[in-house]
Amino acid sequence: MKILVINGPNINMLGIREPGIYGKNTFADLLALLEETAQAEGLEVEQYQSNHEGDLVDRIQAAYGKVDAMVINPAAYTHTSIAILDALKAVAIPTVEVHISNVDAREPFRHISYPGMACVHTIKGQGLDGYRQAILWLKEHYGK
Ligand code: DQA
Repeated sequence: MKILVINGPNINMLGIREPGIYGKNTFADLLALLEETAQAEGLEVEQYQSNHEGDLVDRIQAAYGKVDAMVINPAAYTHTSIAILDALKAVAIPTVEVHISNVDAREPFRHISYPGMACVHTIKGQGLDGYRQAILWLKEHYGK
């Protein structure tokens, strides 16, 4: 099973950005966690990060017919991007939305998720472990 993990803007700043909200683990730690999870579960996991909305749309489109499932943390684009929502709908690849922080307990503008409307499941507030949980969830529901 091949899973693509997509991260939006500022996720590459993990460990530096607002550690009180996102924790002290770095982006490199996240990449290591993804690799460990892939090995432990016998999955192929690829990661893509961009700070640019159009690049995220391009990467989702390029995944069409190439991956079995996706995990996405659209970061700030969660709360604004109909383009990412439409891209997810277009490719119709089962996708789990992940947020490191519990967005529901934060500012009201973080309570809406456009891409989430096209996702099969959402994991919030579990820190970096949320990515591992999302991969396990996809393996359980769509694994082959
Ligand atoms: C985030 C939550 C978003 O509101 C924020 O803009 C992010 C990260 C999270 O993982 O908790 O950049 O998606």
